[in-house]
Amino acid sequence: MKGKSILLGISGGIAAYKAAALCSKLTQAGADVHVVMTKSAIKMVGPATFQALSHHAVRVDTFAEAEPGVIAHIDSADRADLVVIAPATANILAKMAHGIADDMLSTVLLAATAPIFVAPTMNVHMYEHPATQENLEKLRKRGVLFLEPGVGPLACGYVGKGRMAEPEQIFATIETFFAQETAAEAADKPLSGRKVLVTAGGTVERLDPVRYFTNDSSGKMGFAAAVAARDLGAEVTLVAGRVSEPLPQGIDIIHVSSALEMYEAVLERYAHTDVVVKAAAVADYRPVDTFPQKMKKTENMLQVTLIKNPDILEELGKRKNGQFLVGFAAETEHLHEYAMDKLQRKNCDLIVVNDVSRADSGFGTDTNVITIFDQAGVVVELPLLSKYDAATSLMELVAKRLGRLGDV
Ligand code: PMT
Repeated sequence: MKGKSILLGISGGIAAYKAAALCSKLTQAGADVHVVMTKSAIKMVGPATFQALSHHAVRVDTFAEAEPGVIAHIDSADRADLVVIAPATANILAKMAHGIADDMLSTVLLAATAPIFVAPTMNVHMYEHPATQENLEKLRKRGVLFLEPGVGPLACGYVGKGRMAEPEQIFATIETFFAQETAAEAADKPLSGRKVLVTAGGTVERLDPVRYFTNDSSGKMGFAAAVAARDLGAEVTLVAGRVSEPLPQGIDIIHVSSALEMYEAVLERYAHTDVVVKAAAVADYRPVDTFPQKMKKTENMLQVTLIKNPDILEELGKRKNGQFLVGFAAETEHLHEYAMDKLQRKNCDLIVVNDVSRADSGFGTDTNVITIFDQAGVVVELPLLSKYDAATSLMELVAKRLGRLGDV
Protein backbone atom coordinates (compact mmCIF):
# COMPACT_ATOMS: atom_id res chain seq x y z
CA MET A 1 0.00 0.00 0.00
CA LYS A 2 3.02 2.25 0.63
CA GLY A 3 3.39 5.00 -1.95
CA LYS A 4 0.03 4.23 -3.57
CA SER A 5 -2.32 7.14 -4.16
CA ILE A 6 -5.95 6.30 -3.50
CA LEU A 7 -8.85 8.58 -4.31
CA LEU A 8 -11.62 7.86 -1.82
CA GLY A 9 -14.94 9.11 -3.16
CA ILE A 10 -17.75 9.40 -0.65
CA SER A 11 -21.36 9.82 -1.77
CA GLY A 12 -24.39 10.52 0.41
CA GLY A 13 -25.27 7.21 2.02
CA ILE A 14 -25.60 6.61 5.75
CA ALA A 15 -22.59 4.28 5.47
CA ALA A 16 -20.43 7.40 4.95
CA TYR A 17 -19.47 6.99 8.63
CA LYS A 18 -17.84 3.62 7.77
CA ALA A 19 -15.69 5.39 5.18
CA ALA A 20 -13.90 7.12 8.08
CA ALA A 21 -12.63 3.74 9.35
CA LEU A 22 -11.61 2.79 5.81
CA CYS A 23 -9.76 6.09 5.31
CA SER A 24 -7.92 5.60 8.59
CA LYS A 25 -6.88 2.01 7.74
CA LEU A 26 -5.61 3.00 4.30
CA THR A 27 -3.60 5.92 5.66
CA GLN A 28 -2.11 3.78 8.42
CA ALA A 29 -1.07 1.21 5.83
CA GLY A 30 0.98 3.91 4.08
CA ALA A 31 -1.40 4.89 1.26
CA ASP A 32 -1.68 8.54 0.24
CA VAL A 33 -5.46 9.03 0.50
CA HIS A 34 -7.25 11.99 -1.12
CA VAL A 35 -10.94 12.34 -0.31
CA VAL A 36 -13.64 13.78 -2.58
CA MET A 37 -17.16 14.06 -1.09
CA THR A 38 -20.54 14.91 -2.56
CA LYS A 39 -22.67 17.66 -1.02
CA SER A 40 -25.03 14.96 0.32
CA ALA A 41 -22.11 13.07 1.89
CA ILE A 42 -21.02 16.08 3.96
CA LYS A 43 -24.51 16.09 5.53
CA MET A 44 -23.72 12.61 6.89
CA VAL A 45 -20.11 13.13 8.06
CA GLY A 46 -18.17 16.41 8.06
CA PRO A 47 -15.16 16.86 5.74
CA ALA A 48 -13.06 17.79 8.80
CA THR A 49 -13.11 14.12 9.85
CA PHE A 50 -11.63 13.01 6.54
CA GLN A 51 -9.18 15.90 6.41
CA ALA A 52 -7.82 14.82 9.81
CA LEU A 53 -7.67 11.14 8.83
CA SER A 54 -6.14 11.63 5.36
CA HIS A 55 -3.94 14.65 6.20
CA HIS A 56 -5.19 16.35 3.01
CA ALA A 57 -7.89 18.94 2.31
CA VAL A 58 -11.15 17.32 1.23
CA ARG A 59 -12.53 18.35 -2.18
CA VAL A 60 -16.29 18.94 -2.43
CA ASP A 61 -16.95 21.91 -4.71
CA THR A 62 -15.84 21.79 -8.36
CA PHE A 63 -15.25 25.54 -8.40
CA ALA A 64 -13.34 25.83 -5.12
CA GLU A 65 -9.95 25.94 -6.83
CA ALA A 66 -7.60 26.38 -3.87
CA GLU A 67 -4.43 26.21 -6.01
CA PRO A 68 -4.47 28.52 -9.07
CA GLY A 69 -1.93 26.36 -10.93
CA VAL A 70 -4.00 23.20 -10.59
CA ILE A 71 -7.43 22.24 -11.93
CA ALA A 72 -8.74 20.40 -8.91
CA HIS A 73 -10.90 17.72 -10.56
CA ILE A 74 -8.19 16.80 -13.09
CA ASP A 75 -5.53 16.79 -10.38
CA SER A 76 -7.65 14.48 -8.19
CA ALA A 77 -8.25 12.13 -11.13
CA ASP A 78 -4.65 12.10 -12.41
CA ARG A 79 -2.90 11.44 -9.11
CA ALA A 80 -4.94 8.30 -8.32
CA ASP A 81 -3.50 4.79 -8.66
CA LEU A 82 -6.91 3.53 -7.57
CA VAL A 83 -10.34 5.09 -7.09
CA VAL A 84 -12.61 3.70 -4.38
CA ILE A 85 -16.20 4.93 -4.05
CA ALA A 86 -17.48 3.95 -0.61
CA PRO A 87 -20.33 4.36 -0.08
CA ALA A 88 -21.56 4.41 -3.68
CA THR A 89 -25.23 5.44 -3.80
CA ALA A 90 -27.68 4.61 -6.60
CA ASN A 91 -27.32 8.25 -7.70
CA ILE A 92 -23.51 8.30 -8.13
CA LEU A 93 -23.63 4.90 -9.85
CA ALA A 94 -26.26 6.23 -12.27
CA LYS A 95 -24.14 9.31 -12.99
CA MET A 96 -21.09 7.10 -13.61
CA ALA A 97 -23.06 4.83 -15.93
CA HIS A 98 -24.33 7.79 -17.99
CA GLY A 99 -21.22 9.96 -17.91
CA ILE A 100 -22.89 12.78 -16.01
CA ALA A 101 -20.46 15.25 -14.46
CA ASP A 102 -22.42 17.79 -12.43
CA ASP A 103 -20.47 17.90 -9.16
CA MET A 104 -16.90 17.36 -7.98
CA LEU A 105 -17.06 13.59 -7.45
CA SER A 106 -18.89 12.74 -10.71
CA THR A 107 -16.54 15.05 -12.65
CA VAL A 108 -13.46 13.42 -11.13
CA LEU A 109 -14.88 10.00 -12.01
CA LEU A 110 -15.30 11.02 -15.64
CA ALA A 111 -11.69 12.21 -15.77
CA ALA A 112 -10.18 9.24 -13.89
CA THR A 113 -8.23 6.60 -15.80
CA ALA A 114 -7.22 4.48 -12.77
CA PRO A 115 -9.11 1.29 -11.88
CA ILE A 116 -12.33 1.98 -9.93
CA PHE A 117 -13.82 0.01 -7.04
CA VAL A 118 -17.38 0.81 -5.95
CA ALA A 119 -19.05 -0.27 -2.70
CA PRO A 120 -22.78 0.14 -3.42
CA THR A 121 -25.20 0.86 -0.60
CA MET A 122 -28.91 1.65 -0.85
CA ASN A 123 -32.40 0.49 0.00
CA VAL A 124 -33.11 -3.03 -1.26
CA HIS A 125 -35.84 -1.83 -3.68
CA MET A 126 -33.56 0.84 -5.07
CA TYR A 127 -30.87 -1.84 -5.52
CA GLU A 128 -33.24 -4.21 -7.31
CA HIS A 129 -34.78 -1.50 -9.50
CA PRO A 130 -34.17 -2.28 -13.21
CA ALA A 131 -32.60 1.18 -13.69
CA THR A 132 -30.00 0.47 -10.99
CA GLN A 133 -29.40 -3.08 -12.23
CA GLU A 134 -28.89 -1.78 -15.80
CA ASN A 135 -26.45 0.84 -14.51
CA LEU A 136 -24.52 -1.76 -12.52
CA GLU A 137 -24.34 -4.04 -15.57
CA LYS A 138 -23.08 -1.16 -17.71
CA LEU A 139 -20.37 -0.33 -15.17
CA ARG A 140 -19.36 -3.99 -14.81
CA LYS A 141 -18.92 -4.26 -18.59
CA ARG A 142 -16.80 -1.12 -18.48
CA GLY A 143 -14.45 -2.79 -16.00
CA VAL A 144 -15.59 -1.13 -12.77
CA LEU A 145 -14.89 -3.51 -9.86
CA PHE A 146 -17.63 -4.19 -7.31
CA LEU A 147 -17.45 -4.65 -3.59
CA GLU A 148 -20.80 -6.38 -3.35
CA PRO A 149 -23.24 -5.07 -0.72
CA GLY A 150 -24.11 -7.41 2.11
CA VAL A 151 -27.52 -8.68 3.19
CA GLY A 152 -28.86 -7.47 6.54
CA PRO A 153 -30.85 -4.76 8.32
CA LEU A 154 -30.75 -1.50 6.37
CA ALA A 155 -30.97 2.03 7.82
CA CYS A 156 -34.39 2.46 6.21
CA GLY A 157 -35.81 -0.40 8.32
CA TYR A 158 -35.85 -3.03 5.55
CA VAL A 159 -33.84 -6.23 5.73
CA GLY A 160 -32.18 -7.21 2.46
CA LYS A 161 -29.27 -6.62 0.08
CA GLY A 162 -27.92 -3.10 0.29
CA ARG A 163 -25.55 -2.83 3.27
CA MET A 164 -22.15 -1.45 2.32
CA ALA A 165 -19.27 -3.96 2.59
CA GLU A 166 -17.42 -3.56 5.91
CA PRO A 167 -14.27 -1.34 5.93
CA GLU A 168 -12.07 -4.37 6.82
CA GLN A 169 -13.39 -6.26 3.81
CA ILE A 170 -12.87 -3.27 1.47
CA PHE A 171 -9.38 -2.76 2.87
CA ALA A 172 -8.48 -6.43 2.30
CA THR A 173 -9.76 -6.26 -1.30
CA ILE A 174 -7.66 -3.15 -1.99
CA GLU A 175 -4.60 -4.83 -0.46
CA THR A 176 -5.08 -7.90 -2.66
CA PHE A 177 -5.58 -5.67 -5.71
CA PHE A 178 -2.24 -3.90 -5.20
CA ALA A 179 -0.45 -7.16 -4.37
CA GLN A 180 -1.71 -8.74 -7.61
CA GLU A 181 -0.80 -5.62 -9.58
CA THR A 182 2.75 -5.68 -8.15
CA ALA A 183 3.11 -9.41 -8.85
CA ALA A 184 1.87 -8.95 -12.44
CA GLU A 185 4.29 -6.05 -13.03
CA ALA A 186 7.20 -8.04 -11.58
CA ALA A 187 6.42 -11.17 -13.64
CA ASP A 188 7.21 -9.31 -16.86
CA LYS A 189 10.64 -8.04 -15.92
CA PRO A 190 14.10 -9.32 -16.91
CA LEU A 191 14.97 -10.58 -13.41
CA SER A 192 11.51 -11.70 -12.33
CA GLY A 193 11.57 -15.01 -10.50
CA ARG A 194 15.27 -14.57 -9.66
CA LYS A 195 16.55 -14.37 -6.11
CA VAL A 196 19.37 -11.85 -5.88
CA LEU A 197 21.55 -11.37 -2.81
CA VAL A 198 23.54 -8.13 -2.62
CA THR A 199 26.12 -7.16 0.00
CA ALA A 200 26.75 -3.50 0.75
CA GLY A 201 28.83 -1.29 3.02
CA GLY A 202 31.96 -1.92 5.01
CA THR A 203 32.55 -4.45 7.75
CA VAL A 204 33.42 -3.52 11.34
CA GLU A 205 36.21 -5.45 13.02
CA ARG A 206 36.08 -4.70 16.75
CA LEU A 207 39.03 -4.30 19.03
CA ASP A 208 37.10 -3.25 22.12
CA PRO A 209 33.59 -1.83 22.81
CA VAL A 210 34.51 1.62 21.42
CA ARG A 211 37.23 0.94 18.84
CA TYR A 212 37.17 -0.89 15.56
CA PHE A 213 38.72 -1.24 12.10
CA THR A 214 36.51 -0.36 9.16
CA ASN A 215 36.66 1.38 5.77
CA ASP A 216 35.05 4.22 3.82
CA SER A 217 32.29 2.26 2.09
CA SER A 218 29.01 4.18 2.37
CA GLY A 219 26.78 1.40 1.05
CA LYS A 220 25.72 3.50 -1.97
CA MET A 221 26.97 1.10 -4.66
CA GLY A 222 25.46 -1.97 -2.98
CA PHE A 223 22.17 -0.16 -2.37
CA ALA A 224 22.09 0.90 -6.04
CA ALA A 225 22.65 -2.72 -7.10
CA ALA A 226 19.86 -3.91 -4.77
CA VAL A 227 17.40 -1.27 -6.00
CA ALA A 228 18.30 -1.87 -9.67
CA ALA A 229 17.80 -5.64 -9.22
CA ARG A 230 14.46 -5.02 -7.51
CA ASP A 231 13.37 -2.63 -10.28
CA LEU A 232 14.22 -5.31 -12.83
CA GLY A 233 11.86 -7.68 -11.01
CA ALA A 234 14.17 -9.69 -8.74
CA GLU A 235 13.38 -10.76 -5.20
CA VAL A 236 16.25 -9.05 -3.41
CA THR A 237 17.96 -9.69 -0.09
CA LEU A 238 20.44 -7.07 1.00
CA VAL A 239 23.13 -7.96 3.53
CA ALA A 240 24.28 -4.59 4.84
CA GLY A 241 27.36 -3.93 6.92
CA ARG A 242 28.30 -0.49 8.21
CA VAL A 243 26.62 2.08 5.96
CA SER A 244 26.11 5.83 6.08
CA GLU A 245 23.21 6.09 3.62
CA PRO A 246 19.45 5.80 4.29
CA LEU A 247 18.38 2.19 3.73
CA PRO A 248 16.48 1.46 0.50
CA GLN A 249 12.74 0.79 0.92
CA GLY A 250 10.89 -2.35 -0.05
CA ILE A 251 13.90 -4.64 0.21
CA ASP A 252 14.52 -7.40 2.73
CA ILE A 253 17.57 -6.20 4.71
CA ILE A 254 19.83 -8.24 7.00
CA HIS A 255 22.15 -6.19 9.16
CA VAL A 256 25.61 -7.50 9.93
CA SER A 257 28.69 -5.95 11.43
CA SER A 258 31.86 -8.02 10.97
CA ALA A 259 33.19 -10.01 8.04
CA LEU A 260 32.46 -13.21 9.98
CA GLU A 261 28.82 -12.16 10.43
CA MET A 262 28.58 -11.30 6.73
CA TYR A 263 30.11 -14.69 5.90
CA GLU A 264 27.44 -16.48 8.00
CA ALA A 265 24.55 -14.40 6.59
CA VAL A 266 25.59 -14.90 2.96
CA LEU A 267 26.50 -18.59 3.21
CA GLU A 268 23.25 -19.38 5.03
CA ARG A 269 21.22 -18.04 2.08
CA TYR A 270 23.48 -19.17 -0.77
CA ALA A 271 21.71 -22.43 -1.64
CA HIS A 272 18.45 -20.55 -2.29
CA THR A 273 20.02 -17.69 -4.26
CA ASP A 274 20.35 -17.33 -8.03
CA VAL A 275 22.65 -14.30 -8.19
CA VAL A 276 25.11 -12.85 -5.66
CA VAL A 277 26.47 -9.32 -6.07
CA LYS A 278 29.33 -8.67 -3.66
CA ALA A 279 29.61 -4.89 -3.58
CA ALA A 280 30.58 -4.80 0.12
CA ALA A 281 34.06 -3.76 1.17
CA VAL A 282 34.94 -6.68 3.43
CA ALA A 283 37.88 -6.29 5.79
CA ASP A 284 40.64 -8.70 4.85
CA TYR A 285 41.83 -8.90 8.49
CA ARG A 286 40.39 -8.69 12.03
CA PRO A 287 42.12 -8.34 15.42
CA VAL A 288 43.14 -11.66 16.94
CA ASP A 289 42.29 -10.45 20.43
CA THR A 290 39.17 -8.46 21.24
CA PHE A 291 38.59 -6.91 24.63
CA PRO A 292 35.24 -6.88 26.46
CA GLN A 293 36.14 -3.62 28.27
CA LYS A 294 37.65 -0.40 26.89
CA MET A 295 41.42 -0.85 26.55
CA LYS A 296 43.50 1.37 28.81
CA LYS A 297 46.35 3.52 27.57
CA THR A 298 49.65 2.08 28.92
CA GLU A 299 52.78 1.69 26.75
CA ASN A 300 54.01 4.11 24.06
CA MET A 301 53.57 1.47 21.41
CA LEU A 302 50.58 -0.76 20.92
CA GLN A 303 50.75 -3.74 18.66
CA VAL A 304 47.55 -5.22 17.36
CA THR A 305 47.87 -8.58 15.69
CA LEU A 306 45.46 -9.18 12.86
CA ILE A 307 44.31 -12.46 11.43
CA LYS A 308 42.94 -13.07 7.94
CA ASN A 309 39.15 -13.08 7.53
CA PRO A 310 37.60 -15.74 5.37
CA ASP A 311 37.17 -14.55 1.80
CA ILE A 312 33.40 -14.76 1.35
CA LEU A 313 33.45 -14.43 -2.43
CA GLU A 314 36.16 -17.05 -2.80
CA GLU A 315 34.13 -19.44 -0.65
CA LEU A 316 31.02 -18.78 -2.77
CA GLY A 317 33.11 -19.48 -5.88
CA LYS A 318 34.20 -22.85 -4.45
CA ARG A 319 30.67 -23.85 -3.46
CA LYS A 320 29.06 -22.62 -6.67
CA ASN A 321 26.15 -24.81 -7.71
CA GLY A 322 24.43 -22.95 -10.53
CA GLN A 323 24.59 -19.53 -8.87
CA PHE A 324 25.74 -16.49 -10.88
CA LEU A 325 28.53 -14.67 -9.03
CA VAL A 326 29.35 -10.99 -9.42
CA GLY A 327 32.38 -9.67 -7.56
CA PHE A 328 33.56 -6.11 -7.18
CA ALA A 329 37.15 -4.93 -7.19
CA ALA A 330 38.24 -1.62 -5.74
CA GLU A 331 41.54 -0.85 -7.43
CA THR A 332 43.88 2.11 -7.81
CA GLU A 333 46.23 0.66 -10.47
CA HIS A 334 46.65 -2.28 -12.88
CA LEU A 335 42.85 -2.53 -13.07
CA HIS A 336 42.76 -5.12 -15.85
CA GLU A 337 45.38 -7.42 -14.36
CA TYR A 338 44.03 -7.33 -10.80
CA ALA A 339 40.44 -7.74 -11.98
CA MET A 340 41.21 -10.84 -14.04
CA ASP A 341 43.19 -12.32 -11.15
CA LYS A 342 40.26 -11.85 -8.72
CA LEU A 343 37.71 -13.08 -11.24
CA GLN A 344 39.60 -16.33 -11.79
CA ARG A 345 40.75 -16.88 -8.22
CA LYS A 346 37.23 -16.35 -6.84
CA ASN A 347 35.47 -18.21 -9.70
CA CYS A 348 33.20 -15.24 -10.54
CA ASP A 349 31.02 -14.97 -13.64
CA LEU A 350 31.56 -11.22 -13.75
CA ILE A 351 33.75 -8.79 -11.89
CA VAL A 352 33.07 -5.07 -11.68
CA VAL A 353 36.16 -2.93 -11.36
CA ASN A 354 35.99 0.60 -10.05
CA ASP A 355 38.97 2.89 -10.08
CA VAL A 356 38.84 4.18 -6.52
CA SER A 357 41.71 6.62 -7.12
CA ARG A 358 39.30 8.91 -9.05
CA ALA A 359 37.44 11.61 -7.11
CA ASP A 360 34.13 10.77 -8.82
CA SER A 361 34.38 7.02 -8.39
CA GLY A 362 34.39 4.37 -5.70
CA PHE A 363 33.99 5.00 -1.98
CA GLY A 364 31.27 7.44 -0.86
CA THR A 365 30.61 9.02 -4.26
CA ASP A 366 27.21 9.24 -5.98
CA THR A 367 28.78 8.32 -9.31
CA ASN A 368 31.03 5.54 -10.50
CA VAL A 369 33.13 4.57 -13.50
CA ILE A 370 33.01 0.82 -13.87
CA THR A 371 34.43 -1.77 -16.22
CA ILE A 372 32.87 -5.21 -16.24
CA PHE A 373 34.98 -8.29 -16.97
CA ASP A 374 34.14 -11.92 -17.60
CA GLN A 375 36.45 -14.92 -18.01
CA ALA A 376 37.26 -13.74 -21.58
CA GLY A 377 38.21 -10.18 -20.58
CA VAL A 378 36.48 -6.80 -20.80
CA VAL A 379 32.72 -7.05 -21.50
CA VAL A 380 31.91 -3.36 -21.24
CA GLU A 381 33.58 -0.15 -20.13
CA LEU A 382 30.95 2.26 -18.86
CA PRO A 383 31.36 6.05 -18.72
CA LEU A 384 30.81 8.13 -15.57
CA LEU A 385 27.28 7.30 -14.43
CA SER A 386 25.16 7.60 -11.31
CA LYS A 387 25.59 4.48 -9.17
CA TYR A 388 21.97 3.52 -9.93
CA ASP A 389 22.52 3.76 -13.70
CA ALA A 390 25.79 1.84 -13.48
CA ALA A 391 24.05 -0.82 -11.33
CA THR A 392 21.14 -1.03 -13.80
CA SER A 393 23.57 -1.69 -16.68
CA LEU A 394 25.25 -4.35 -14.56
CA MET A 395 21.98 -6.06 -13.60
CA GLU A 396 20.75 -5.94 -17.22
CA LEU A 397 23.95 -7.70 -18.23
CA VAL A 398 23.32 -10.31 -15.51
CA ALA A 399 19.77 -10.80 -16.87
CA LYS A 400 21.19 -11.26 -20.39
CA ARG A 401 23.69 -13.82 -19.15
CA LEU A 402 20.85 -15.65 -17.43
CA GLY A 403 19.05 -15.69 -20.77
CA ARG A 404 16.31 -13.18 -20.18
CA LEU A 405 17.24 -10.21 -22.34
CA GLY A 406 18.36 -11.72 -25.62
CA ASP A 407 22.00 -12.03 -26.67
CA VAL A 408 24.82 -10.22 -24.92
O1 PMT B 1 29.77 1.72 -0.65
P1 PMT B 1 30.26 2.84 -1.56
O2 PMT B 1 30.72 4.05 -0.78
O3 PMT B 1 29.26 3.15 -2.62
O4 PMT B 1 31.56 2.30 -2.30
C1 PMT B 1 31.46 1.28 -3.24
C2 PMT B 1 32.68 0.34 -3.24
C3 PMT B 1 33.91 1.09 -3.72
C4 PMT B 1 32.93 -0.23 -1.83
C5 PMT B 1 32.30 -0.85 -4.23
O5 PMT B 1 32.05 -0.32 -5.49
C6 PMT B 1 33.40 -1.88 -4.31
O6 PMT B 1 34.34 -1.76 -5.07
N1 PMT B 1 33.31 -2.96 -3.48
C7 PMT B 1 34.32 -3.97 -3.33
C8 PMT B 1 35.42 -3.42 -2.49
C9 PMT B 1 36.44 -4.45 -2.14
O7 PMT B 1 36.47 -4.85 -1.02
O8 PMT B 1 37.13 -4.90 -3.11
P2 PMT B 1 38.28 -6.04 -2.93
O9 PMT B 1 39.09 -5.91 -4.13
O10 PMT B 1 38.94 -5.93 -1.60
O11 PMT B 1 37.45 -7.40 -2.90
C10 PMT B 1 37.08 -8.10 -4.09
C11 PMT B 1 35.76 -8.81 -3.90
O12 PMT B 1 35.90 -9.83 -2.90
C12 PMT B 1 34.63 -7.93 -3.48
O13 PMT B 1 33.47 -8.35 -4.17
C13 PMT B 1 34.52 -8.20 -1.98
O14 PMT B 1 33.16 -8.05 -1.52
C14 PMT B 1 34.96 -9.65 -1.89
N2 PMT B 1 35.58 -10.00 -0.59
C15 PMT B 1 36.74 -9.41 -0.22
C16 PMT B 1 37.33 -9.79 0.98
C17 PMT B 1 36.69 -10.78 1.77
N3 PMT B 1 37.21 -11.16 2.92
N4 PMT B 1 35.55 -11.33 1.36
C18 PMT B 1 34.97 -10.96 0.19
O15 PMT B 1 33.91 -11.46 -0.17
